[in-house]
Amino acid sequence: MADDASLICNSSDLEDGGRGVRFQWTSQSGVLWPAFALRYQGVVVAYINRCAHVSVELDWIDGEFFDRDKRYLVCSTHGALYRPEDGFCIEGPCQGKRLESITVTEAAGQVLMVKEI
Ligand code: FES
Repeated sequence: MADDASLICNSSDLEDGGRGVRFQWTSQSGVLWPAFALRYQGVVVAYINRCAHVSVELDWIDGEFFDRDKRYLVCSTHGALYRPEDGFCIEGPCQGKRLESITVTEAAGQVLMVKEI
């Protein structure tokens, strides 16, 4: 593992369209944020777990971010729908805003967050 990356989970932990893995992300200022990673159409993405409408976590049940059709991420509080691929809100009270993304990479069967420099 490179020094500038931290392990989030094993690749096998993220089923396509399945449950997300929650982790803690540290901002450059040292603030810890709840975050999550998931796999959509084969690609791993990660976001800070904070709705763009109100500063609450999206998942009501830990790790359950997808809607029933496994097409969008849904906020459990007021139902905002986000595109998994880029975190853009397509419907709901924060339509047009985005989730804050976290840079991740996948290598050798591991999902890693890339630290900001
Ligand atoms: S808090 Fe997420 S839609 Fe309102």
